[in-house]
Amino acid sequence: MSSPRPADPAPYRALVRPPGARHIEALDQRLLPHAAVNVRIADADAAALAIRRMWVRGAPLIGAVGAYGLAMALDRDASDATLARAHAALDATRPTAVNLRWALDRVRGAVAPLPVAERADAAWREADAIVVEDVAINHAIGEHGLALLRQVASRRAGPVRVMTHCNAGALATCGYGTATAPIFLAHRQGLAVHVWVSETRPRLQGANLTAWEMAERGIPYTLHADVASAALMAAGEVDLVFVGADRVARNGDVCNKIGTYEKALAARDNDVPFYVAVPSPTIDWSTSSGGAIPIEARDADEVLQIVGRDEYGQTQKVSIAPHGARAANPAFDVTPARLVTGLVTERGVTRASADWLAAMFPERAGPP
Ligand code: MRU
Repeated sequence: MSSPRPADPAPYRALVRPPGARHIEALDQRLLPHAAVNVRIADADAAALAIRRMWVRGAPLIGAVGAYGLAMALDRDASDATLARAHAALDATRPTAVNLRWALDRVRGAVAPLPVAERADAAWREADAIVVEDVAINHAIGEHGLALLRQVASRRAGPVRVMTHCNAGALATCGYGTATAPIFLAHRQGLAVHVWVSETRPRLQGANLTAWEMAERGIPYTLHADVASAALMAAGEVDLVFVGADRVARNGDVCNKIGTYEKALAARDNDVPFYVAVPSPTIDWSTSSGGAIPIEARDADEVLQIVGRDEYGQTQKVSIAPHGARAANPAFDVTPARLVTGLVTERGVTRASADWLAAMFPERAGPP
C-alpha cells in the first residue's frame, strides 16, 4: 500500500494510542449507544479481557488491540517465554476472527529475531503500522465499494438502499470500517444513501453500534429486526447488501456474524447483490473452505437476557425466556462462496473463488 490515505473524519475513534504513550484508549462498546466512554488499556491482561468481554470487537480492531497487548507484555518482559505466553493468551481470547492471529503472528515475527532490549519498541512500531495500514485498507475498500454504489445510483432515482448486518464500521476497525466505508465515502461525496441496519441479535451490534455510527455521521438509516431482512428484499426495498467478514477461506467461503448466511440466502432468492468487504488480513490462506473455520460459541445468557436503557436512563439487563431455559449462541456462521456476488478488497472487487482470490493476491496465495 503506497501512501497513507486520509484519516477518517469521524467525531469518534474506536482506538487511540496517545502520542508516545505505552497504553491505548478504546471506546467501551458495551456502553454504546447510550454512553461513549473510553477505557484505558495498559497491559496485556487488560487487552485480553477487553477482547474476550467485547469492550472492543470487530475483526480488524481486535487484531490491532491484540498487537498492542503483545507490545505491552514485552514492555514488562521481552523474553522468549513472555513473547510465547502473551501471544498464546491473546490468541485464545476469541477463535474466529483471523485478524487476531494475523496481527499477533506479525508482531512476533517482527520482534523474535531482535535482541531482547529492542523488542518492545519494535512491537509498538509494528502495532502502529497495523493501525495505519488498516485505515488505508478500509479507505481503499471504500473507494471500490463506492463504485458499486454509483452503478446502482446510475440506474435508479432516489437514495441507494444498502442493507448491512452486525457492525463492520469504524467501531470495528481503526477507521472508516469495511462494509461501511463505501457508505461513509458516498455520504461525504453527496451520493444519497439509505441504510437498512439489521439489529443483529443477540448482542445487537447493528442496533447499538451501526445505528449510532450512522447517526453520528448524519446518514439516513432505518433499524429493522433481523427477521425482517428477507421480506424487505422481497418487497424490493434493498438495492444491495454489504457485510463484513471475520475470516475468508481460500475458496471464498465467508465467515461473519451469525445471521449473515440467512441474508445471503434471501439476497440470492431475490436477486439482490450480496457483497462482502474483506481487508486482506481477513483472508486465511491456510484454511481451504468454510467448514474448517472455528465458530465461537458464546455464553447462553447473551441470548436469554437483553440489555437496554429504561425510561429513567438506567441500564437494565432483563430476562426474555422462562427460568432455566437452555440457549445456543453460535456467534458466527459461514456463507458459502456460491452465494457471494463479490468480495470487495483493498485491491478491488473479486469473485469469491480460489482462482480469483489467488489472482488478486498472488504473493499471499502461494502455490495452489
Ligand atoms: O462478535 P463481533 O462483534 O466481533 O463480530 C463482528 C463481525 O462479525 C464483523 O462483521 C466483522 O468482524 C467485520 S468487522 C470489519
